[in-house]
Amino acid sequence: MPSPVSQPLDSCTAVTVDHPFRVLITHDTILRRVREIGRAIQQDFPSEPPVGVVVIDGARMFVRHLQRTLVRAMEWHELRASSYGVGTTSSGTVTIGSQGDLCVAGRAVLIVEDIVDTGRTIAALRDRFLAQGAAQVRVATLLSKPSRRVVDVALDYVGFEIPDEFVIGFGMDYAGRYRELEEVVVYDEARAASSGG
Ligand code: IMP
Repeated sequence: MPSPVSQPLDSCTAVTVDHPFRVLITHDTILRRVREIGRAIQQDFPSEPPVGVVVIDGARMFVRHLQRTLVRAMEWHELRASSYGVGTTSSGTVTIGSQGDLCVAGRAVLIVEDIVDTGRTIAALRDRFLAQGAAQVRVATLLSKPSRRVVDVALDYVGFEIPDEFVIGFGMDYAGRYRELEEVVVYDEARAASSGG
């Protein structure tokens, strides 16, 4: 059998990328805070756990780490909701995707979000679940930008309050990119434009 052809290392060109961002919250700091949030959720729901609704795509990485801190199994659903297009400001219109077989009537709901900005997305989801007969709706968000709030929403578990800057990483994207970064970083549009990234 012929041996697989491997590419010689010296044929690869090392690329130095001038990333258009600066670190706001390190990975270790995020993980510590996520563990605290997990503990708080367990204390608040000592008997019957809530049904978890993960706002995708942004909250996937947050919930993956949160799930590891929870001792009791929970029922989880993913829901696509967005008030952002491809840019860095809210469009003002919230689009909510299919709810699938998620039934919230008579149940406590825990919405897991990456970031609360104007509050429109969380308000729309909360109003929808309450209208469907949810017993209560709680919100866990990794980040919150209080200075940007347009709609008044109660947030039960907040990882970090941050200033009014567009952030990416730890699941959050800019036009579908950078979700895989382990830290939360500030995205610098001007620098990105000047370096073509
Ligand atoms: P809101 O409805 O204005 O609160 O917006 C919440 C949604 O906007 C979040 O789920 C994110 O998808 C997106 N968003 C808001 N701010 C940022 C940011 O700084 N980086 C990435 N996404 C953001």
